[in-house]
This record gives sequence, C-alpha cells and structure tokens, in this order.
Amino acid sequence: MHLSTRSIHVGNEKEPLTGAVIPPLHLSSTFAPDGDFSKAVYDYSRSGNPTRAGLETTLAALEEGCAALAFSSGMAAIHCATQLLRSGDHIIAGTDIYGGTYRILHKILNRAGIETTLVPLHDLEAVAAAIRPSTRLIWAENPGNPLLSLVDIEALAELAHSHQALLAVDNTFATPVATQPLTLGADIVMHSATKFLGGHSDLLGGALIVKDPELYKELYFIQNATGAVMAPFDCFLCSRGIKTLEVRFREQCKSALWIAQYLSHHPQVRKVHYPGLSSHPQHTLAQQQLRGSYGAVVSFELDADFQAAQRFVSSTHLFQRAVSVGAVESLIEQPASMSHASYDKTDRIKAGISDGLIRLSVGLEHVHDLLADLQQAFRTALPISEEARPEHKARANANYVFQ
Ligand SMILES: Cc1ncc(COP(=O)(O)O)c(C=O)c1O
Repeated sequence: MHLSTRSIHVGNEKEPLTGAVIPPLHLSSTFAPDGDFSKAVYDYSRSGNPTRAGLETTLAALEEGCAALAFSSGMAAIHCATQLLRSGDHIIAGTDIYGGTYRILHKILNRAGIETTLVPLHDLEAVAAAIRPSTRLIWAENPGNPLLSLVDIEALAELAHSHQALLAVDNTFATPVATQPLTLGADIVMHSATKFLGGHSDLLGGALIVKDPELYKELYFIQNATGAVMAPFDCFLCSRGIKTLEVRFREQCKSALWIAQYLSHHPQVRKVHYPGLSSHPQHTLAQQQLRGSYGAVVSFELDADFQAAQRFVSSTHLFQRAVSVGAVESLIEQPASMSHASYDKTDRIKAGISDGLIRLSVGLEHVHDLLADLQQAFRTALPISEEARPEHKARANANYVFQ
C-alpha cells in the first residue's frame, strides 16, 4: 500500500457498532471492562487509549516500524528515548539540532550524569573519533534544524551498531514522505507531531517509532511510568492531519524550492541553506535520501546584523513571525533570538547559527504571494540607498545564475 493510502486507512478503520467512517474520539480517562480486569486491552488512558492507539498504528505504518508511541510533545518523546540511558552513559548528537534538544541534552541529562558530545554528523570520521566505550546513543536530526544539513543515515547506523550504540533520527523535517530512517538502519525514529504530521498549528505532540519489539516494550514501560502521553483530542487532530500529509508536504516542498532559488540570487543574501539547491554541500546525498522532496524549511543568511535580521522577520505579512514549522501557514523566525535562543552563544556561533540567519517554514499559500511578501520585506527592512543602488544591481546580476 502506498504511503498516502496508509495514512488514510491504517489505524482509521470504521467503527463497527455504528459504521461511522471516522473512528470516535475516546475521551474516557478510565475503563470498566467486563470479565477479567487484568486481561483488558484498556484499563486507564495513560497506559492505553483507543484514539491514541489508532494514531500509533498509523505512525508505525508510515515509518515502516513494528510499533509507535504518541507523546504530549516532541520534547517528551526525546526525553523518553534518553531515559534508555543510565548515569555514566554518553550521547553523540549533531551540531545542527533544535534548541530544545540541545537544552535537554546539556541542561537536564547532564544532571543525571549523562554526557553529550556535539559532532557534525555528516563527518563520519569525526563521529568515529568521538565514540567512547560508554557511547550508547547517536542522536541525529535529518535535515538538521536550522541549517538543513543531512546525515547519511545508512552509514551512521552502521557506525553506531559497530560500537553497540543505537541510532535515533529526528525525522520531523523530512517526514516519512521524504525519508523512512528505519528502512535505512536507524533504531528509533522521533517526530515532533506538532509540525508536519499535525500540519495545522493546532496540536502539540511527539512520537517514537521503532522496528524492534523489545525496544518498543522498554520505551512503553518508560512512557507509562513517566506519563507524558498525547491527549486524545490531540491524537484525533493528528490522525486527521496525517491523512493529507503527503499532498501537503509535496506541495510545500515545491514552493520551498522556488523560494530557495529566489533567495540564492538575491544580492542581500549571503548564503541559502536548502538541500534541493545544487549549492548545498550534501545535495547528492539529498537526491538519494530525500526522494525528490527536499523539505519545506529554508534558511538563509542575510548580509546584515542581528538588529536588521530582527527587522526583517518583523516586516513580512504572510510569513508570520513565530517559532515552529510544518503547518499550512508560512512562518518566519530568527533562530538566534527565537528557536535556538537556549543555545549558549559560543556553541550557537560554533554551530553556524549566525545573528543574521533567518528560517522560513513554507506553507500552502500561493508561492507568488509568498515571494511578493519576501520582496516587500527586503524593501522595508533593508532599504538600498541611492548611492548603493548601482552596486546592488551589479551584485543582483552576478548572482542571477539559474540552478
Ligand atoms: C526538529 C525538532 N525536534 C523536536 C522539536 C520539539 O518538539 P515539540 O515542540 O513538539 O516539543 C522541535 C520543535 O520545534 C523541532 O523542530
């Protein structure tokens, strides 16, 4: 069955009692089953809920896993995965990761004696050099947030396994439409379901999906013991969002490529980070691993300082200034002051997240309207003086090379 068919039919079976095509939303916190209580499928909603179970079945099918767990947020899902580790264990994570992931690794897990080393994961030699006998987990984001770097999942899985470590991939930005990390050797796939899976900026959720039933049992035990499950109503919304995931994502990717091309010719843009551009350092890997959908997030570096970047993100109208990605509404943000503000400044600069970096999440508005919005933001936030105009024109012409 194709992905779009699975996203509609798996985990969304009609309700047998009434024939309702949409399974009902089960809000009950507790269950009173007939017969032997210890054999009941559902007894208490933290341990299991039919609406959550439907979503988890869909998620497992989309990522080619054996089972999935739905969490109250993406961070709750990350937290659960890291609870597989013990004091003294070591994690290797990418340098290009979400600010909240950086925070949990460096400011929460360190308290429990779990140390993290950040390494650019595309550099397999650097990863191999950072591996210790205590390394139990490699945590990768693919593509990374906010610089859209890629990791070779197959090669990284091989390296992790040769050192008895697990490979977890945050697949939030690629979605299973572009990449299914479990099929490439990863052990755990993680999602912030708040993003593309939900797709409409109206729910908070996270997910872990695995292919090993024993690993699933361990993660289920941790989730049930710690309790950060996704609420039934959010599960219902997420299941609904997933039905249109593939069409939404593919369309958003098309617009994102147009926008990345426009920006890459702009004289006031220093650099564009987008895996679909031939200038991306891992474009060849992107062509194989992302299966033609290069993502709906584009970042770019303005030829400007912190304040000018702040002005720029306040000057768009359709791109709303907000953190998050993956919804039908386009969003714009400055990672240095917003999504990645929890980084220590030296780590942030070392990771390449400059003051002038801007991140766009491209939604489903018409791409011409989005391009017009960016054009007017350049005029408003970074006006060109009369004296600078000839040089600006010359740079615009020089940059105008079709990809
Ligand atoms: C790549 C990535 N992973 C994880 C998260 C955390 O997810 P949540 O906000 O649902 O807790 C985010 C949030 O922005 C993210 O962008």
